[in-house]
Formats: sequence, C-alpha cells, structure tokens
Amino acid sequence: MIETAVTTERKLCSPASVRVRKARLSDVNAMHRIINYYADRQLMLPKSHLQLYENLRDYSVAADTADDSTVLGCGGLHIYWENLAEIRALAVLAESARKSVGTTLVEQLLEEARSLGLEQVFVFTYVPGFFGRFGFVAVEHRSLPLKVYNECFHCPKFNTCDEVAMVLPLS
Ligand SMILES: CC(C)(COP(=O)(O)OP(=O)(O)OC[C@H]1O[C@@H](n2cnc3c(N)ncnc32)[C@H](O)[C@@H]1OP(=O)(O)O)[C@@H](O)C(=O)NCCC(=O)NCCS
Repeated sequence: MIETAVTTERKLCSPASVRVRKARLSDVNAMHRIINYYADRQLMLPKSHLQLYENLRDYSVAADTADDSTVLGCGGLHIYWENLAEIRALAVLAESARKSVGTTLVEQLLEEARSLGLEQVFVFTYVPGFFGRFGFVAVEHRSLPLKVYNECFHCPKFNTCDEVAMVLPLS
C-alpha cells in the first residue's frame, strides 16, 4: 500500500503533520469517535463498530507523524463494481480541521483508486465545495443505481436524502 507523508503549511492555522496509512484494528475506536461526532450533528451517517470492523480494509487513516497511534482523520474507499468505488465516511477530528488532513486523505484514496484500475469514484456528501476542489461534479442520485439499490434503499433518510451525489472520472 502506498503511503503519503505530508507536512501541511497553511496560512491561518498551525500545520498538521500526517501520514496516511491503511487502518488497523487498533484505530477503530478513534475512527468511531470521529465519524459519530459528526453523525450526532447530522453532518454524516453514523457507523457502528461492527460496520467499521467488517469493512476495515476499505479504510485509511491520517495518523500524526509524531505518534502513529493518534488518528486525526479517516476515510474509506468502497468498491462497488469493476469500474466504480465510493469515498465514504471521510471525517477529520474537529480540532484538526482546515489543516489539509481531509485533502491529504482524499488524495491518498484517489491514488488507491487509480492503482486498483478504477475508472470512476463517487461520493454522497454535505460538503460539495470540498469535493469540487478535486474535480468531483454533482450528478443525479439515480445515475448511481448500484449505490441507491444496495444502500440508500435501507437508509432511514431514503425519501428525505439531501446529500449531494458527485462523481470524479479517473483518467
Ligand atoms: C469535510 C472535511 C473532511 C474536510 O477536511 P479538512 O481537513 O477540514 O479540510 P482541508 O483542510 O483539507 O480543506 C481544504 C479546503 O477544502 C474546503 N473545505 C474544507 N472543509 C469544508 C467544508 N466543511 N465545506 C466546504 N468547503 C470546505 C476549503 O476550501 C478548505 O480550504 P480553506 O481551509 O483554505 O478554506 C472535514 O471538515 C470533516 O470531517 N467534515 C465533517 C464530515 C464530513 O462532512 N465529511 C464528508 C463526508 S462525505
């Protein structure tokens, strides 16, 4: 697995030094806390420990370079079909927001997608502006039937979903 080490230097906040690596079992509690902090605020869907353990190999984490066990953010790349995957459960510790941790995670997940030979990555999100920076463009939910029929159908928000579906073709 390719790993990315980045020291971010942003104008208005202190830099965050992170290394993106594949998630480990010992990261799950931290991932659960970070994701569900936002889920409690209706900013993303919740994930249970079971969902995280079952799909752990989908996930990467941004770990503090000074302490590899400190998880500053996480995100998953979930394969749907031979050409299609979703970036899901992308979340950055609130204290580490706006220090490029999210950007570093997405760049690494896209690199993973390319290395697998995927042609397209999609996301369902409340932050289209963030994903637009990578070239994702908004599409109709129904243009992603594998997602809608496999997952959205079972979601309590199925009829009231206000997430924006976005896709990024990988060249
Ligand atoms: C969205 C999220 C992952 C971004 O991570 P981050 O590390 O804070 O973002 P970055 O520092 O890499 O952001 C880079 C740029 O993206 C844009 N951006 C970041 N967060 C944004 C947001 N919430 N809304 C719109 N644009 C955003 C900004 O242009 C930002 O640059 P700036 O700080 O100079 O203005 C993080 O805010 C988060 O965990 N949010 C809650 C969960 C969530 O919505 N996840 C997406 C689920 S699909």
